[in-house]
Amino acid sequence: MTEEPILNALKNRPGAFVSGEELSRLIGVSRTAIWKEIEKLRAEGYKILAQPHSGYQLVSIPDRLTAQELSWNLATKKIGRRIHAYETTDSTMDVAQRLASAGEPEGSVVVAEAQGKGRGRMGRTWISPKGKGIYLSVILRPDLQLMEIPKITLVAAVAVAQAVESVTGLKPEIKWPNDLLIGGKKIAGILTELNAELNRINYVVVGIGLNVNTPADKLPAHGTSLAEELEKKVDRLELARALLSHLDRTYAQFLQDGIAPILEDWRRFAGFLGRRVRVALEGRTLDGQAVDVDASGALLVRTDTGLVESVSAGEVLVVR
Ligand code: BTN
Repeated sequence: MTEEPILNALKNRPGAFVSGEELSRLIGVSRTAIWKEIEKLRAEGYKILAQPHSGYQLVSIPDRLTAQELSWNLATKKIGRRIHAYETTDSTMDVAQRLASAGEPEGSVVVAEAQGKGRGRMGRTWISPKGKGIYLSVILRPDLQLMEIPKITLVAAVAVAQAVESVTGLKPEIKWPNDLLIGGKKIAGILTELNAELNRINYVVVGIGLNVNTPADKLPAHGTSLAEELEKKVDRLELARALLSHLDRTYAQFLQDGIAPILEDWRRFAGFLGRRVRVALEGRTLDGQAVDVDASGALLVRTDTGLVESVSAGEVLVVR
């Protein structure tokens, strides 16, 4: 496999030509072999100029979330050290769970260009059109008590919000516990699934779905995408890499210092705090003002009687 060293050599010299001779010396194969690999890369969608006497220049890389491109310059400690990339799969959650059951290490990522059966919370579907969004699942093996697990959703929500803000300049709003909105419309969701026995966690899979370049006609009702909001295409690779880096940082911080520092970041994105909400709980609804989240990650709602109720699972509707 000489494809990767060739790509790396070209990437290390952005905007410049690298001669066939240099590549052949660097990698230790013939110039003909280099040419063949260049042809393969082109077939994969890499645009590479070839000029007699000058050599090869990388012009652009394909808009695909491959393991090779996601790993490029990825300076994370845990998240994304191993990446399993698929063209299409039913759900990255299922693939991640199968891998985790077979002993896959913490931090491994499963990503797909399309999902046939992408799923969301509460039995909903996550619409996953090919090459338009970021659909990935991360395997975690935290040494935590079961009751701590819901906090991981908040940790992931902060990472997604930070990544979106850093790459696009748009500041998403986090709606407790796991929705990311722009202008009141959903751009991303997080699904945390747990495999545990009594009090022992085997693994946690955190699934993240992000509408990046999804056109309006492929979005669900009340959904939007970054491209729709910005009116231009967003670099999915850059965003996915930023997401893995932010998640690496927030998750490490959470394991080390607990949820408190993460909640400070979380509040910065939680635009709905202070607003009037209606929370659908199992069997009843709760009306009041969303005041904060507590140290367990639960939402605090001040009801009309003045009582503050703590909600650890439910669906929030921002009323006004
Ligand atoms: C929600 O808002 O209800 C959560 C949506 C989570 C969607 C992601 S896409 C990648 C991963 N695979 C799935 O099937 N679901 C999650």
